[in-house]
Amino acid sequence: MNVTPDHTSASRILTVRDGAFRRGGEEHRILSGAIHYFRVRPELWHDRLLRLRALGLNTIETYIPWNWHEQTRGDIDFTGPRDVARFVQEAGELGFDVILRPGPYICAEWDFGGLPGWLMAEPGIALRTMDPRFIGAVDGWFDAICEVMRPLLATNGGPVVSVQVENEYGSFGDDAEYVRYCRDALTTRGIDVLLVTSDGPIAGMFAAGMVEGAHATVNFGSRTGEAFEALRAVQPQGPDMCMEFWNGWFDHWGEPHHVRGAADAAATLEEILSGGGSVNFYMAHGGTNFGLWNGCNTEDGMLQPTVTSYDYDAAVGEAGELSEKFYAFREILRRYATHEIPEPPALPARLGAQDAAVTEWVSLRGSLGAFDAPQQSALPKQMEQLGQDQGLVWYQASPLLDAEEVTLQIDGLADRATVLLDGVVAGTIDRNDAEHTLVVQTRSDGRPTELVIIVENQGRINFAGGLGEHKGLRSVRQGARFIHGWTSTALQIGRDGAIDSLQFGDSADSAGPVFGRTTLTVDEPADGFIALPGWGKGFVWLNGFLLGRYWERGPQVTLYAPAPLWRTGENEIVVLEMERAGSRVELRGEPDLAGGRLAGIPKAAEFFD
Ligand code: GLA
Repeated sequence: MNVTPDHTSASRILTVRDGAFRRGGEEHRILSGAIHYFRVRPELWHDRLLRLRALGLNTIETYIPWNWHEQTRGDIDFTGPRDVARFVQEAGELGFDVILRPGPYICAEWDFGGLPGWLMAEPGIALRTMDPRFIGAVDGWFDAICEVMRPLLATNGGPVVSVQVENEYGSFGDDAEYVRYCRDALTTRGIDVLLVTSDGPIAGMFAAGMVEGAHATVNFGSRTGEAFEALRAVQPQGPDMCMEFWNGWFDHWGEPHHVRGAADAAATLEEILSGGGSVNFYMAHGGTNFGLWNGCNTEDGMLQPTVTSYDYDAAVGEAGELSEKFYAFREILRRYATHEIPEPPALPARLGAQDAAVTEWVSLRGSLGAFDAPQQSALPKQMEQLGQDQGLVWYQASPLLDAEEVTLQIDGLADRATVLLDGVVAGTIDRNDAEHTLVVQTRSDGRPTELVIIVENQGRINFAGGLGEHKGLRSVRQGARFIHGWTSTALQIGRDGAIDSLQFGDSADSAGPVFGRTTLTVDEPADGFIALPGWGKGFVWLNGFLLGRYWERGPQVTLYAPAPLWRTGENEIVVLEMERAGSRVELRGEPDLAGGRLAGIPKAAEFFD
C-alpha cells in the first residue's frame, strides 16, 4: 500500500470506530516509533527523523518530561532544546503524525520518571494521587503544556493525532479519581484528539490504568498473542495497539549491556502487524541521557542507576547508526507502509581518534565558591531542603570524635558518599552497601576533626514503589550519638554555566574529588566518543555542556559527543573525578557501550515480557 498521505487537517484526525483506527475516516494502521527530543540535540532532530521516515514509520511518539521543562517551580521553559513544539512541527513537515505523552509521570528511565525533584520538599506528598499538593503542582504543568500542545493538534491543523493520559498507571497505584483527573485536565484544556492509556498486559494493571474516554493500549516485548488477548479481555472491540514494543532495552551501571537480536525482534514485529495490530517501537531511536537526567531502578532494595547512553539497542543507534535491526524492520514495514519509503541518510561524519593529557587541575574543595552559598543547620539538609533537584551536596561539620577508632554511621544516604577527615579521604560508602558505616582512625587529641561528606545523587528512581526519594543524607552519628552543626552546600553541577568560573592551576590544592581540564583540537565538528581510561567515576563536560556520567565499572565506556557540541579548533574538556583521577582523555571514532570491567561478560538479552 504505497500511497502518499493526505495532510489536510481533517484527513489527519484519528478516531476509533468499528474496532479500527480511522484517519480522516479511512481505516488506518499506526506505525510509530518513540524518539525523545530531550535525548537528542536539537540540531540533530531532523537527521534522526529522516532515519525514522526511512525505516517506514508514519508516526512519531515522544514523552514530554515535566521536570526538564519546570526544573525550578513556576519557571517553565519551552525554548531551545526544550522547544517541543518545534520538534513536533519538524516531524509534521516530514509527513509524520505525532503521539504525545505529557505525563505528569513518564517513567522512561528518566530522572524521577519526569516528576520534578522539588515535589519532594513537601513532606509526605503522595505522588500520582489526588493529594492536593501534588494536584496543585500538576495543574500548573497541564496549564503550560496544554497551551503548547493545543495549536499542534490535528483538530487544529497540526500533526498531533493522539495524547496519552498518564503512563502505565496500572503498574503504580489505584487512585481511579486521579486517572480521571488526568483525563479531564487534558479535555478541559482543549485537548480534543484521541486519548489513550498504556499498561502492561495484566488484568489488574488495565483495571487501574484504563479510564473511560481513552482507548487502551498495551506494552510488551514478546508473546504478542497473549498480550493482545489480555487487552481484548478488557477492550473487546479493538483496535489493538502495542504502545511500547520493547525491541531493545536499557543498561544499568555494573550490569551487562543489553542487546536483542534483529531476527527475534523482527519476528515479534511481524506478529503484531500480521495480526492487524498497530505499533509504537520503544525505542525507535533512544538517544542520550545528557547531563544528570538518567533515572534509576531498584531491585531487592538495591539501587540500579541507568547509564548515560540511552542507545536502547534500537533500530537507529545513539549516533545515528542503522543496525541490522533497522533493515530487518524496514523489510517488514515496507509491506505495511502508508508512504513511499525514502532511502536513509549516510552515517554522520566522525572525528578521528586522538588523546590529550590533562594538565590543569582544581579540587572540588577549592571550587566551592563557584556554587550556591552554604546553609547552616543542626542536622545536615537533604537535597530538597536545599532547593536542589540533582547533583552533589558538600556536607561539612567539626565534631569532637572521642576515641581513637570511631564508627561513623550515615542515615538516609542517597546515593554515594565520599568521606574526608581532616582533608584526607577516609572512604566511600554506597547506598547499596550492606551497612552505611565507616570505621575511622581519629587523633583523640581533644581538638575537633573536620568531617566532609560529599554525596552524589545518582538519579532519582523512575519506576514503581521506589518513586519519591530524598537525596543527600539525613543525619550522621558517631556510634549512637548525632553529630550536630552542619554546613550543607548544594553543588548543582548539572545547571548551565555550572563550571564557568572554575580557577584551574597546575595541580589540585587538596585531596578528594577534583576537576581536570584539557583541550582537544579538531578541524571540523563531527561526532566523537569520549573515553576516560584509568579514571574512576565522575562527570565530563565538552565546551561547558555536561555530556553525562562515566564509571569504570561499565558497561558504558565511551560518552557520545555529537557534532553540534564541537567547535572548529580548540575544544575544552572538563572532568570532575570523584574517586581516582586518571591522566589522559581519549577521543575515539567508535562507541563502546559494552566494556569496562564488564568487558567479555556475555551481553544480556532479557526482556520484561
Ligand atoms: C515502561 C515505561 C517506559 C519505559 C519502559 C522500559 O514500559 O512505560 O517509560 O520505562 O518501561 O524502557
